[in-house]
Amino acid sequence: MPLVIGVTKELTPGERRVALVPDVAKKYQGLGAALQLQVGAGETAYYRDEDFGVAELSTEPQSVLQTADVILQVQPLGLEALAQLKPGTVLVGLQQPWSSRERVELLLQKQITCFALELLPRISRAQSMDVLSSQAAVSGYECALIAADHSPKFFPMLTYAAGTIRPAKVLVIGAGVAGLQAIATAKRLGAMVSGYDVRPETREQIESLGAKFVDTGVSAAGTGGYARELTDEEKRQQADKLGKAIAECDALITTAAIPGKKAPVIVTAEMVARMKPGSVVVDMAAETGGNVAGTVTGEKTWVGDVLIIGPTHIASRMPVHASEMYAKNLFNFISPFIKDGALALDWEDEVLSGACLTHAGELRHAGVKAALGL
Ligand code: NAI
Repeated sequence: MPLVIGVTKELTPGERRVALVPDVAKKYQGLGAALQLQVGAGETAYYRDEDFGVAELSTEPQSVLQTADVILQVQPLGLEALAQLKPGTVLVGLQQPWSSRERVELLLQKQITCFALELLPRISRAQSMDVLSSQAAVSGYECALIAADHSPKFFPMLTYAAGTIRPAKVLVIGAGVAGLQAIATAKRLGAMVSGYDVRPETREQIESLGAKFVDTGVSAAGTGGYARELTDEEKRQQADKLGKAIAECDALITTAAIPGKKAPVIVTAEMVARMKPGSVVVDMAAETGGNVAGTVTGEKTWVGDVLIIGPTHIASRMPVHASEMYAKNLFNFISPFIKDGALALDWEDEVLSGACLTHAGELRHAGVKAALGL
């Protein structure tokens, strides 16, 4: 029996991406794997059933969950779906590993081999597998478009018969993958862009995109290329300098995150109150608590005459390309271990073992173990 790779429709409401696209499906088949797909698995991302090259489709998610050897997903499976899996099933996707102890306990109890791509080591070799990066790039682009769309001002400079309109000022806080993409997109739209991050190396990255770096004098590089949490003193220093830049901008995009933690609140109510009338705030961190006081997740909120947008499922707004990027990342992660239609996981591989959350009833990730108290 060849290895069976299964994909259901995403079970999380609002999720439009899919973990497999037709081009990538053919590559798995080329490695000798069989595919088991639920009818309409790709439809919210505009991928048609007939293009996947799968002869027989399952009408219900249950048959995929109960029989596949490997399941590819975007959003973590809920408890009900997990309960259907056979022992030893390999799960590959985003798992929000820090978010639910109950889920992890069920993964352990069911002996699921679960790969959480949030845990992927951020080394050069793993870049082609990095779903956090590919999806952050989509989200950053989208957030710049949302800001431009809601701004009552032009982003570019515009010369017309009666004069010249000055370009909008855009400030991006958090210059990781998403923030840099938001900066690049706002630049392409013609805005005057500034960027800010606590990691010192971002100055050069922001400037290389033609944007200005806002220097607050706070530097907080953490481990693994990520930021660490700021001390209270650092927060005060940051607030002083940033407040001025925020008061001057027409559109503010915030993308700051700390892995496994609630997003830091960087923009206070007082800073929002000092913003210009008609300013727009797009808080990309809304789903993890938000970077801005006054953000309501999934809502558009007026605070005086400033509009704060807390978008959710941002990458899902571009499901065609977001799915294509995601599906290729997953293929690059798991395909080296598929040979002649069989799966042979190599636990010596640092990328594979680094991304493993649970295997054979064991919680493999020390950070998650400590965070969940398991
Ligand atoms: P992220 O999504 O965890 O955070 C977004 C940004 O928020 C980061 O740049 C972080 O420094 C910033 N931030 C956190 N607290 C902040 C605060 N209080 N004020 C302002 N900004 C704050 O980060 P992301 O985009 O996932 O990437 C982080 C790093 O990982 C980058 O250095 C990136 O180059 C690196 N990376 C490496 C990869 C590889 O080698 N395979 C792949 C992708 C990213």
